[in-house]
Amino acid sequence: MQLFQLRVSAALALLLCSLAAGRQVSQCAPADSPRLRFVAQLSVNGCALFVHDTGASDGPHLAVEPLMCVTDSLRGIVPRFDFITQQLYFSVPVLMRDAGMLAEAQRQLRHLSPRSVSFATVTNISVSADTRSSIRVLSFLWTPNEPIATLRLRIDENKFHSFIRALRMSKLNLLKNIVPSDFKWIKGQSHLNYLPMETLQNVRLSASIISNGSCHDIQSRIMLQNDSFIEVGLYRKKFLPVCRQLRFSRYVNLENCSARAHQRLDIKGHFLIEPLLCHNISSLSSESVRYDYSRDMHYLKLDLVLQDEATRDAVRTQLADLSPRSVDFMRLWTAERSVSSSLSARFEVGPLMASADWRSAQLRLLCGNWTECRDLKSALLAEPSDLWRHVQWRVTSLVAEQCLSKSSRITSSWRMKPPGRADSCSSLKPCARLQRASARRTAAFQMLPDGRWFLKIQQRLTGRVSFQRNWTEYETGFGDGTDFWIGLSAIHSLSQGGVTLRVEMKLGNGSELHAEYAGFQVGDASTGYRMTYREMLRVRSVSIDSLEHHKGMRFSTMDRDNDEASDSCSNQRVKGGWWFNECLYVNPNGIFKLHFIGLKYMIWTYGSAILSLREMRLMLQI
Ligand SMILES: *[C@@H]1O[C@H](CO)[C@@H](O)[C@H](O)[C@H]1NC(C)=O
Ligand SMILES: *[C@@H]1O[C@H](CO)[C@@H](O)[C@H](O)[C@H]1NC(C)=O
Ligand SMILES: *[C@@H]1O[C@H](CO)[C@@H](O)[C@H](O)[C@H]1NC(C)=O
Ligand SMILES: *[C@@H]1O[C@H](CO)[C@@H](O)[C@H](O)[C@H]1NC(C)=O
Ligand SMILES: *[C@@H]1O[C@H](CO)[C@@H](O)[C@H](O)[C@H]1NC(C)=O
Ligand SMILES: *[C@@H]1O[C@H](CO)[C@@H](O)[C@H](O)[C@H]1NC(C)=O
Ligand SMILES: *[C@@H]1O[C@H](CO)[C@@H](O)[C@H](O)[C@H]1NC(C)=O
Ligand SMILES: *[C@@H]1O[C@H](CO)[C@@H](O)[C@H](O)[C@H]1NC(C)=O
Repeated sequence: MQLFQLRVSAALALLLCSLAAGRQVSQCAPADSPRLRFVAQLSVNGCALFVHDTGASDGPHLAVEPLMCVTDSLRGIVPRFDFITQQLYFSVPVLMRDAGMLAEAQRQLRHLSPRSVSFATVTNISVSADTRSSIRVLSFLWTPNEPIATLRLRIDENKFHSFIRALRMSKLNLLKNIVPSDFKWIKGQSHLNYLPMETLQNVRLSASIISNGSCHDIQSRIMLQNDSFIEVGLYRKKFLPVCRQLRFSRYVNLENCSARAHQRLDIKGHFLIEPLLCHNISSLSSESVRYDYSRDMHYLKLDLVLQDEATRDAVRTQLADLSPRSVDFMRLWTAERSVSSSLSARFEVGPLMASADWRSAQLRLLCGNWTECRDLKSALLAEPSDLWRHVQWRVTSLVAEQCLSKSSRITSSWRMKPPGRADSCSSLKPCARLQRASARRTAAFQMLPDGRWFLKIQQRLTGRVSFQRNWTEYETGFGDGTDFWIGLSAIHSLSQGGVTLRVEMKLGNGSELHAEYAGFQVGDASTGYRMTYREMLRVRSVSIDSLEHHKGMRFSTMDRDNDEASDSCSNQRVKGGWWFNECLYVNPNGIFKLHFIGLKYMIWTYGSAILSLREMRLMLQI
């Protein structure tokens, strides 16, 4: 039996196989011009498909990389012993080319109207493993065009034993995540009943592919199908279609979560819900700190809900007054995340990994060491919203089947509805630090009746605090709990990627006005904290966009003239700081004096009227 296996191996090894650990392949001649252009990453049955465009002039011909996906449950894989080489090994089947998956990829890519979708030709392939792992790569056997390859992994028993010993010595509660639960010690000997899933994450496959005459080197980590989570988030902008027939309808608030409902204008009564992107904090309570071999970092795993049958009814109930005919969820296509810089030093938020059925997802919170992860977990459980206020998502969703040629692009913050008190920053250290950095003011949070949360970046309620300040003060922030400016550098880091700005004003007669702006963004110091936004939103009580005069302007103060006027707006006419142009239509940081109209006072121009303000607030949606 063992002999037979060895002979078969020898025959197949004709073609490919490499035992080198960590060797990079570069089989393509350097003269080859790279003509493949990356198009998208798809997930089919949990396997990732990387799709490239071959650059044909008559419309896209798409080439798919070999799948390199582990297809079977690893629990079924038992160690074998090769009596000739005296080695203990696992034999893992790896999916390389699969006609069914290609057909599914073709279906998902229909909106690109490709002329053809096919697997690229693989020329050379090699495999390597992280040397810190207790598992070594023995061979990778594959005949081109066969659907499945075999990966052989040698188990280095000594290394494995010392690894286990080290873990036991450390008394960390890691064992149960890393070591299979049915791992037994028999007379000091270990018996692995199956391959630990995470070790496969150390194995990398490299290959050269040829498509339409040009050669390319690719490198891929093996995908684990039955772990079933695939990174979301790669696409080429050029191929991203636009769905113009969608209209934002309203926010729907679910328990612990909120989503946006859109309306299909071409089908009466058809509603589409954006993917939920809600985290399930109760799943964290039973989680322990895990270890990522390939990154050599500890992490917490957090479960997310993208769409859920149970929420469908809740959504339907909320849309009841609109008599919906049908309610569908959009399909998550890409997700980019950014974490406010004040948080990112302590831990990283890993990429969003979606499940094969796109109903749930996972996120890894990577920390420097086990203790930090444990502290992070208790902080998160105590006050989950603290973290998510600082994580921004830019999500692209594809609209349901019938509208596949179209998509909507959404920039959104984490859509969790934070429970509990509004201003509860203290339990999570990074958040507390953000507060300290913005000079001990209550940079308080506010929830609107529609369930959206905002962070106040400027507020004028009493007039106790002077806003006639210099550049340094406007940069770092100033004020007390009621009247404050949180600072340009904070506003810059909070608005990265574009957020929704909400302006709230109270007039002398008590009337309240508000306006909202999408894609509000403030650049960094090198741009002079240039302010811009995409558009004024329909959610508002004022219909004239007076802020437009200030769009694209750099910030100016008395001691720093960045405005468009021949003299200095701030120094000669206003004294406050703002994104002055020639000089202003609105002046939220002007002198606090009700019923005084003039450039230097706190005013908002509205058509031909100039409104003197009694109260003023600027907020960013979180
Ligand atoms: C192959 O590449 C050439 C040159 O870029 C291009 O003109 C041609 O259309 C491509 N053919 C296919 C089938 O992609
Ligand atoms: C594969 O790699 C080997 C060694 O690096 C090289 O000699 C050979 O030409 C390559 N074959 C192809 C088809 O690229
Ligand atoms: C994962 O493996 C289990 C057990 O073999 C199987 O029941 C399940 O369907 C698999 N899941 C996927 C997504 O393939
Ligand atoms: C909402 O969150 C609370 C507290 O974390 C939890 O007890 C409850 O089950 C959650 N509800 C849903 C629908 O997830
Ligand atoms: C949240 O996690 C808990 C515990 O893991 C689980 O029982 C529950 O079904 C999850 N909720 C959702 C909506 O996925
Ligand atoms: C974990 O990291 C923190 C901060 O880098 C450090 O203070 C602490 O000593 C570390 N703990 C361990 C157990 O290494
Ligand atoms: C700005 O004002 C603060 C507080 O009055 C002062 O300490 C600082 O020196 C000033 N900076 C400059 C550059 O004038
Ligand atoms: C307050 O003043 C504004 C602008 O002058 C006006 O439009 C609004 O109707 C007034 N509200 C009340 C309650 O008088």
